[in-house]
Amino acid sequence: MNIAIIGYGRMGRAIESAGSVQGHRFPLIIDVDNRKDLSGSRLKEASVDVAIEFSSPDSAPDNILACLDQGVPVVSGTTGWNDRFEEIAHYCRDKQGAFFYASNFSIGVNILFTLNERLAKIMDRFPQYSVALKEVHHIHKLDAPSGTAITLAEQIIRQHGRMHQWQAGTGTEEGSVPIESIREGEVKGEHTVRYESDADILTLGHTAKTRDAFVAGALLAAEFIRGKTGVFGMKDLLNL
Ligand SMILES: NC(=O)c1ccc[n+]([C@@H]2O[C@H](COP(=O)([O-])OP(=O)(O)OC[C@H]3O[C@@H](n4cnc5c(N)ncnc54)[C@H](O)[C@@H]3O)[C@@H](O)[C@H]2O)c1
Repeated sequence: MNIAIIGYGRMGRAIESAGSVQGHRFPLIIDVDNRKDLSGSRLKEASVDVAIEFSSPDSAPDNILACLDQGVPVVSGTTGWNDRFEEIAHYCRDKQGAFFYASNFSIGVNILFTLNERLAKIMDRFPQYSVALKEVHHIHKLDAPSGTAITLAEQIIRQHGRMHQWQAGTGTEEGSVPIESIREGEVKGEHTVRYESDADILTLGHTAKTRDAFVAGALLAAEFIRGKTGVFGMKDLLNL
């Protein structure tokens, strides 16, 4: 496939290198210095089949809209812009475009999401346990809490009758799921869901060892949405 990379940082570069090994071509690479190339019909001129977008929370929504405007399917993994997700999903459906979003492209984390939902439903019956989330990432990460931690919290809130919102930090406010965010070194990503009673602690967690898991998932998603219309996520891709 001809893939456009939008955001040529750690993820963009890793996708180019893994994708080249798989035989994909990268005729257009966009970052802050040449972001004008995303307007007009530059994607079409470069015969782009799919765009993969890993940029920054501020720029992701407009980057995705630019791809949809040009009729190019877009895969995005940029986190920290949840407030505009519904608007973009609506725009995509209106335009009959294709948009794939995952706050985390690793297969392991998506299995964790499935287990987290199931566990939250069980734990709803045991009020003696409090729940708390913790995520650890490298010091360059711009958003906190991580998109993955927010997804985990939202799942718990949906399944758990006593939880109504999440809050950043380690507070113990009634009805809130606390999310502690730690930034240290070059940690690729750790997420822990912890239920605690006076008698014991139950934890569910995932640790990313390298970026390869995210890269492989994003490339699979690019192959998956080619030729489709609609809004998709990892549940569609992995059939979980
Ligand atoms: N969904 C996942 O599985 C997953 C995995 C890893 C990272 N991420 C997220 O992806 C995003 C990027 O991560 P990264 O580690 O590659 O970050 P990074 O800082 O290494 O790279 C981001 C790149 O985007 C560029 N950029 C900024 N504004 C832009 C614009 N308007 N147009 C084009 N490019 C622009 C920056 O110059 C930079 O090169 C972050 O939000 C991160 O949290 C998601």
